[in-house]
Amino acid sequence: MLKPLVVVTGKNGQLGWELQQLVAHVETAFDFFFTGREELDLSNPEMISAFFQKYKPAYFINCAAYTAVDKAESEQEFTYTVNASSVGLLATECSKLNCPFITISTDYVFDGKGTAPYAIDHLADPVNYYGYTKWMGEKLALANNPHTIVIRTSWVYSSHGNNFVKTMLRLMKEKEELKVVNDQIGSPTYAADLASAILQIITRLAAGNAHYGIYQFSNEGQISWYDFAVAIRTLGGLSCMVLPIPTKDFPTPAKRPAYSVMDTQQIVRDFGVPLKNWKESLVQCISKLS
Ligand SMILES: NC(=O)c1ccc[n+]([C@@H]2O[C@H](COP(=O)([O-])OP(=O)(O)OC[C@H]3O[C@@H](n4cnc5c(N)ncnc54)[C@H](OP(=O)(O)O)[C@@H]3O)[C@@H](O)[C@H]2O)c1
Repeated sequence: MLKPLVVVTGKNGQLGWELQQLVAHVETAFDFFFTGREELDLSNPEMISAFFQKYKPAYFINCAAYTAVDKAESEQEFTYTVNASSVGLLATECSKLNCPFITISTDYVFDGKGTAPYAIDHLADPVNYYGYTKWMGEKLALANNPHTIVIRTSWVYSSHGNNFVKTMLRLMKEKEELKVVNDQIGSPTYAADLASAILQIITRLAAGNAHYGIYQFSNEGQISWYDFAVAIRTLGGLSCMVLPIPTKDFPTPAKRPAYSVMDTQQIVRDFGVPLKNWKESLVQCISKLS
């Protein structure tokens, strides 16, 4: 029997890659089609409608995004197309097919002035252009398809792709001393855990568990980038000196929210998704890397 087709964008990114690894190793009730820019380029909105006419997905998972947070400040039009207007078009096309649409957003929709985990309905007020485009993408997706699930996540890393964990491991092998900011607080997310959560969500949707709207997902616990770096050094068995510095000593083109921990309980309540502690997942990723 033909299984429902799940289309996933961003096959070469951290999350898209982890989802590919996961479904290659477990039996699912779906057929998956993983796409990259060649099959569906989100900077080229004309491709979108033709793609949907050809493949007619039963579920659509958008893991693609323009994720270069600093470069987004100077590539605003391009970033808006990929992260906002094309996300809106994907949602419209899904809606025509009655196809649930899952798209990933970010903790960077928040202003960072909070001191307790951000509730889902806390007012978004991004401090950088990337966060603004992701917020606009959320709004368009929710407005254009009633069967949209937005999953906000934060500080994503994986054994694949570019991320803080791999950069730290590399730099710690090259240098004797590293400075890392200690006044930005967030929750890391192992992309493999988010991939499992997404598979669980579409499995529940297929079983008739019809929850839609905004959700938040990360690993549990809140830390600074400095704390994260120290844990990476320990688990990596390295000896590089790690020095805490304030954000003002590490200027970047895009501002970052000082505090971006999110309340993740709704995804547990509605989809039974398990949440792992950040260190447990970091251990898994680092052991995979070594
Ligand atoms: N990384 C984080 O720390 C973080 C934090 C919060 C939220 N998120 C969100 O989580 C999701 C997954 O992020 P990730 O970490 O997996 O990102 P990633 O590793 O940077 O991967 C992004 C993917 O999007 C693809 N892409 C970029 N522009 C595209 C375009 N015009 N058309 C089609 N595909 C395009 C990239 O393709 P190429 O491989 O060809 O470049 C890449 O495969 C994104 O929505 C991101 O905004 C990420």
